[in-house]
Amino acid sequence: MTAAESLGLRFDPLDNSQAEMRWEFWDEARRTAPVFHNPKYDVWFVTRYEDCDRVQRDHKHFSTSSVFAPARPWPPTVQAILDEGHSWKYFLSNNDPPEHTPLKRAVAKAFSRSETREAEERVRGIATRLIAGIADRGEAELAESIAYPFPALVVMEILGFPREDVEQLKAWGDAWLTLFSDTDDVAVLERAAHDFIAFQNYMLAHFRARQEQPTDDLMSHLVQQLAAEDTGLTIEDIVNVPINLMTAGHATGTLLLLEEVTELLKDPELMADVRANPEKIPQLVEEALRYEPPVHGIFRTTLSEVEVAGVTIPEGARVLICYGSANHDPAKFKCPAHFDIDRDDVSDHLGFGKGTHFCPGAWFARMEQRVVLELLLERCPNLRFHPDHEQERLEHFWLRGYQKLWVQWDAPGAAASSDEPAAAAA
Ligand code: HEM
Repeated sequence: MTAAESLGLRFDPLDNSQAEMRWEFWDEARRTAPVFHNPKYDVWFVTRYEDCDRVQRDHKHFSTSSVFAPARPWPPTVQAILDEGHSWKYFLSNNDPPEHTPLKRAVAKAFSRSETREAEERVRGIATRLIAGIADRGEAELAESIAYPFPALVVMEILGFPREDVEQLKAWGDAWLTLFSDTDDVAVLERAAHDFIAFQNYMLAHFRARQEQPTDDLMSHLVQQLAAEDTGLTIEDIVNVPINLMTAGHATGTLLLLEEVTELLKDPELMADVRANPEKIPQLVEEALRYEPPVHGIFRTTLSEVEVAGVTIPEGARVLICYGSANHDPAKFKCPAHFDIDRDDVSDHLGFGKGTHFCPGAWFARMEQRVVLELLLERCPNLRFHPDHEQERLEHFWLRGYQKLWVQWDAPGAAASSDEPAAAAA
């Protein structure tokens, strides 16, 4: 058996018992079988930085049309429900140039660096409200209380959805994630598919309202930009774009925040450094994007037979560009296994992708993470792991990170109600 065949049989991204060994797999792959095929999911993994970079640039051979495809085909009843909705053609993430170009331009303009600066105060307001809700408690599960609602609220406010719709939208966003989860439960998948259709219909109604009466939110900007770009696309065509924005900007933001906090909690020296020098928070964010990128890999489909790192991949194959592995490639990053916020090579990371499909929310996400971390460290002194709870990892084919993180901190209210006031004071 070749090294590539052996890896392909052993590696299972949906087996969370392998989660801690992920880096060993990637190291082995980059050294011995940089491109390998996994027969269980019929996916080709590309693991070296150089090859990942090439694949995500090479539109002639690699299409993004399978970005939103499940690890295994959906059961026919689930597919039938989804087929009743609007076309999946123009999500943005699953479009190739030239159709992708005007759509991307419109979205990128809405998320430019200057627009991001203008939104900062609103983002700070959302983070302040959420953290104020837990600051006196002294303990919390951080995903549920901050990391999950924060990026969702931010992206919904920017897109211009009414506050009373937030819970419904979050539930539909979860249904979207369920469609790509590992569940074999057909009833669960069918429910998620129905929810997704409701999500699309909601977006359509919202777009139409903004078309008739524009405001200064992102949905209005998108409608105007698309008309200005003369794309020839209708509102029905682009109904999935805001869904793409909402979902792309939600789970990723949750996972990144939990990863950043985890790194701080693991290393007291790092925590002290960042607390003493909050201007280093952007460096922490950037290194977290390199070290444990939430988008650990992303799918492409081959348009014809193509060779990568000496391996021939057939036409129509699904390929996972392993951003997580590329970010740990020693050919690109010095001591890649070391989490180092002072490293000078971090800017080449693929945590936001690169090139045509580079994340249009990158500046926005950086700002969002900086703001919430600043406030969290300020309001939660002596932040530490909760001794009674384990962290829990997300189960997902290409997203990676924690979905539960319990923490404690020194809160005035919690210390006052302690059974051991002397110990608490000490
Ligand atoms: C920590 C937060 C985030 C991370 C780690 C992240 C990561 C990524 C990555 C790796 C890609 C490239 C995928 C590819 O190569 O096909 C991407 C694309 C994208 N991201 Fe983000 N993202 C984040 C936040 C956001 C936010 C806040 C938004 C918008 C509200 C957003 C919207 C998008 C969209 C629409 C795309 C598709 C772009 C295209 O295909 O041209 N992301 N993101």
